Amino acid sequence: MSSARVVVIGTGYVGLTTGACLASLGHSVVCADTDQAKIGRLTGGRIDILEPRLSELVTDGLEAGRLTCVGTAETAFGHLLRRAEIVFLCVPTPMGAGGLADLGILESVVKQIRETLPPGCTVVTKSTVPVGTATRLAQLLRRDDVSVVSNPEFLREGTAVRDFLHPDRIVVGSACREAAEQVAALYASLNAPVVLTDTASAELVKYAANCFLAMKLSYANAIAELCDRAGADVADVAEGMGYDRRIGQEFLAPGPGWGGSCLPKDTSALLQLADSMDFEFRLVRAAIDTNIRQHKRVVDKIREVVTGTRLGSLSQVRLALLGLTFKAGTNDLRDSPALAVAALLREAGAELVAFDPAVDPADSRAGLPFPVKDHAYHAACGADAVVVLTEWPEFRKLDWDRLATLVRTPAVVDTRNVLDVPAVVRAGFSWTGLGRPPRSAPATTVLPDHHAPESAPGPVGAPV
Ligand code: UDX
Repeated sequence: MSSARVVVIGTGYVGLTTGACLASLGHSVVCADTDQAKIGRLTGGRIDILEPRLSELVTDGLEAGRLTCVGTAETAFGHLLRRAEIVFLCVPTPMGAGGLADLGILESVVKQIRETLPPGCTVVTKSTVPVGTATRLAQLLRRDDVSVVSNPEFLREGTAVRDFLHPDRIVVGSACREAAEQVAALYASLNAPVVLTDTASAELVKYAANCFLAMKLSYANAIAELCDRAGADVADVAEGMGYDRRIGQEFLAPGPGWGGSCLPKDTSALLQLADSMDFEFRLVRAAIDTNIRQHKRVVDKIREVVTGTRLGSLSQVRLALLGLTFKAGTNDLRDSPALAVAALLREAGAELVAFDPAVDPADSRAGLPFPVKDHAYHAACGADAVVVLTEWPEFRKLDWDRLATLVRTPAVVDTRNVLDVPAVVRAGFSWTGLGRPPRSAPATTVLPDHHAPESAPGPVGAPV
């Protein structure tokens, strides 16, 4: 197939990336959403999510006439749907009661469109859905002339466009081989390996892959804890492990825990699926438990740095949190480990002030229970420790000499091991990472007067 007529329902980060990228591959794409205001913004080339190159692809698609954005309530939507060859369903499948994905939105969309779909059309699930969903949707559709295909996405936030255009693989599952090949053909120009399979296997690939990544991260965090106790350096241990091609260098960096909109949801869903089939999936359970313990470990580490003991009180302790998003390169706060750690710190009585390059202090949508400042220097005023929770590269470029004049105590807990440690200690700070030997300021350092000013610091340079 050279160019296909595609409709994408749902313009979240998966739907919009899918639509904009398919348009860039030459297909004729309609992106539809119930949120009319969002469609209005998209039509004007404005996108709500922070995703490199996405805005550019949307604008290019609109200008070239290959991309159209439409509200599902508009009459035009019905006309466009009637001409579709392939319809992608990219609506949210949030974690429902008991950890299983909630398919309410997906099912209601199928009921809304089933009468309108043209004969011979293919409906594709792109969102992560429980194993068996494609079969269930086929029953809901009640259309023998419409095929259902599972084509899971493997997009990471922050690199979604690159991941889409340079995929490691394309997975397509269907009971109808012809429909699966029709969907695979959409990606033909990407020259990626294609796995053609049945729907249950395609649906399971997504969970199996994401849960494996979660286990790898929990393992890396546990190894970092061991390194702390054994006096080893996790950077070297991870590098040494990663050269083994069966392991690989990626996903071995310790942190405050894994989060985001996928891994927590998918690990819970796989566990539920296994439970429902009377299989106790202990590895995945352990990965989740290790992740929850990781938040607590980070809090214990902060306690130790600030009070000298893992049992010390954090009451009245002021902490400057750098980074709130679940990882760098996104403005997504969903299931962020930084927020999980912040909640525990607040419970322990700490006073928090935060800064994140992607969180606007004036945006009340974040709904955070502590103040967010517009740069790191404001957040650090009077702090008993600076705690790095997201690996924003900007934090490496902070002026630590200047920070030393603002904080009450020059201590840094770097839960992402992201800082330029020599620069930090040269400025008189102690540095504590995860799984790496702590570093203290050289004895010769002349510490500035650490009585932090009550007022905000003067003009700042880069808005870091
Ligand atoms: C993930 C999967 O990677 C992707 O394939 C899937 O389609 C959706 O879920 P995403 O949620 O965007 O993507 O985040 P990812 O980059 O995988 O990071 C997940 C979490 O692990 C983040 O909290 C991140 O900070 C953490 N992480 C990642 C680490 O702590 N260390 C690492 O080395 C890598």
